[in-house]
Amino acid sequence: MASARYSERDGVAVVSLDNPPVNGLGLEVRTGIVDALTRAAADPAVAAVVLVGAGKVFSGGADIREFGTPRMTAEPTLHAVIAAVEQCPKPVVAAIHGVAMGGGLELALACHYRVAARDAQVALPEVKLGLLPGAGGTQRLPRVVGLETALDMIVSGETVGAAALERTRLFDALVEGDLVEGAVGFARRIAQARPLPLVRERTLRHPDAEGFIAAARGRVSAASKGYPAPLKCVEAMAAAASLPFAEGLRKERELFVGLLEGPESRALRHAFFAERAAAKIPDVPEDTPVRPIRTAAVIGAGTMGGGITMSFANAGIPVVVLEAGREALERGLATIRKSYESSARKGKLTAAQAEERLALIRPTLGYADVAPADIVVEAVFEDMGVKQGVFRALDEAMKPGAILATNTSTLDVNALARATRRPADVLGTHFFSPAHVMKLLEVVRGAATGKDVLATVMALARTLKKTAVVAGVCDGFIGNRMLEQYLRQSLFLLEEGALPAQVDRALEDWGMAMGPFRMSDLAGNDVGWYVRKRRYVERPDVAYSRLADRLCEQGRFGQKTGAGWYRYEPGRRDAIPDPAVDEMIGAYRREKGLAVRPTAIADDEIVDRCVLALANEGARILDEGIAQRASDVDLVYLAGYGFPRYRGGPVFHADTVGLDAVVRRMKAFAERGGADAAFWTPAPRLERLAAEGGTFNPR
Ligand SMILES: NC(=O)c1ccc[n+]([C@@H]2O[C@H](COP(=O)([O-])OP(=O)(O)OC[C@H]3O[C@@H](n4cnc5c(N)ncnc54)[C@H](O)[C@@H]3O)[C@@H](O)[C@H]2O)c1
Repeated sequence: MASARYSERDGVAVVSLDNPPVNGLGLEVRTGIVDALTRAAADPAVAAVVLVGAGKVFSGGADIREFGTPRMTAEPTLHAVIAAVEQCPKPVVAAIHGVAMGGGLELALACHYRVAARDAQVALPEVKLGLLPGAGGTQRLPRVVGLETALDMIVSGETVGAAALERTRLFDALVEGDLVEGAVGFARRIAQARPLPLVRERTLRHPDAEGFIAAARGRVSAASKGYPAPLKCVEAMAAAASLPFAEGLRKERELFVGLLEGPESRALRHAFFAERAAAKIPDVPEDTPVRPIRTAAVIGAGTMGGGITMSFANAGIPVVVLEAGREALERGLATIRKSYESSARKGKLTAAQAEERLALIRPTLGYADVAPADIVVEAVFEDMGVKQGVFRALDEAMKPGAILATNTSTLDVNALARATRRPADVLGTHFFSPAHVMKLLEVVRGAATGKDVLATVMALARTLKKTAVVAGVCDGFIGNRMLEQYLRQSLFLLEEGALPAQVDRALEDWGMAMGPFRMSDLAGNDVGWYVRKRRYVERPDVAYSRLADRLCEQGRFGQKTGAGWYRYEPGRRDAIPDPAVDEMIGAYRREKGLAVRPTAIADDEIVDRCVLALANEGARILDEGIAQRASDVDLVYLAGYGFPRYRGGPVFHADTVGLDAVVRRMKAFAERGGADAAFWTPAPRLERLAAEGGTFNPR
């Protein structure tokens, strides 16, 4: 039960914040602090108060479980607690260990004194949720660490070690040894000192605050396109530097409320909760026993197999990698070695770390070496026959209890499971390229996948530092299935008169890390070509533009061939528009009798068509139960496809626009006719929610 526990030691009241896991400042804790202060003030045997955190940390700040509930704003609020601390007639000492973050640090800043363990860490990370510290942090922190350090901390949200702040006035003492003992000793020493010092009464000094703030405004606004919070942090600090404390506090409040209600913070908070929700699987309890994963194996040392092998080695897991032939094995290992060497050259790893990781990788040509692994990930050619052969071999070779995973992008995981006598041990682990870099991992749950197998791989994903999202079996799973619709739209746009650079620019201006054509050139146009050859033979009813096939027929596979939708200078990655591509598109339009629109296609149409295509397919994926929840669909796009975090993901974006407006826009696209009229049929769930005035994500 969350609380603030009260005890007494040598005439000092010790108030221990106790709300696992991070002593979030939930309602009971807030009430407990206020009650404890009242009790300490009234007790003549108590001369001072020490606030400390139970367990491993002081406080992680607001209790995120209260977000969006009435408890968040119930009295006493954090503001009321802070006022009670400042007004306590006896000195209050914050004793910080572990971390003091957000509201936790703001609470400490209101105390008369602060002491900390040398290895404690502090941060005001609100900016990461599109907010600013709203309980005086922007006004108090600069008064103790100086304007420049405070601005760095608040604008970045990064964590800083107490030792690094030793020379500032944030801490009155760093304590060696037992923190509570040290803090109580400190409290006894200062118990009689009056008046009680308050950070709010300190003067903020800076030789040229105005000049510094002006420069910070320029720097921060250039670096935070799409994100309003960092600049608002600067504005709050400007108020700290120029206004009396109480007015600065009012300004901070006003800026905070503006951000809280704005779409970007809503989106960032959605992303934050999406990351937490994704780990939960409704029918797999959190205490499901997991299988130990001490060793791994990878089949295939190509682009993906190499990256997956490195992911295991980077996490310290010994990994055996198997290839069909010696030459391919050597090539694969050479690529891995080169990648580590390049990381070492760039200073991302020490040479010793690179060696350690390489030493964890063992190449082989025989299944006997793979057999003892706890998990094996298959990453051979995308061909059902080849993969089934590999799964039969794995079934023969692997020890009982080993997990058999496939990295397939499009094939039926259930069919692979059926190639074995242990379908419960089979699932998909869909990594993204480059696999040792990209965060996203789609964990594909087959019809027979065991719950413990699923739980084990979700836990393994955390070890590998991946963002795992569970997907059901379907062609393309969540991410690539949606991507296909996005790419179809971007090609229809070319048919109607747009050019690749225009489509890319419109989407990049909107916030996508990379437009669809630059992205295809990076990933390799041949990858989609290969898939389309199969897909559209199987589904002749689906309208699609042959333009991308044309491009591939010319050998323009993208960056790797020096030419794709753009051309590339040798050794460079800058996408240079190519008149040859414009000509190809023109010839294609003439040949198909496609009428180019009389006026240029507007950027907002480009964005709406591409992004609503994603959202609509996301809705279908939800209808079919392929994704567990709307936020999982969003997370796939945030973690794997460069979707702007401040827009929260494709489905969240549709919620933000309003589903009714989304459906109207889609109907308008359909009414215009053309090849893609059928494309714009709203998914059943979208249609229903729009009619009900609902949203995909709970509000
Ligand atoms: N390239 C991507 O961006 C990407 C992304 C996600 C998933 N995938 C999937 O990952 C898998 C591998 O793709 P890739 O791009 O790494 O292909 P790749 O052609 O680069 O590598 C495949 C490797 O598998 C080896 N191989 C083939 N048959 C084998 C066998 N029977 N036993 C052992 N090794 C064998 C080949 O020699 C080759 O080195 C495919 O299923 C693909 O769909 C690819």
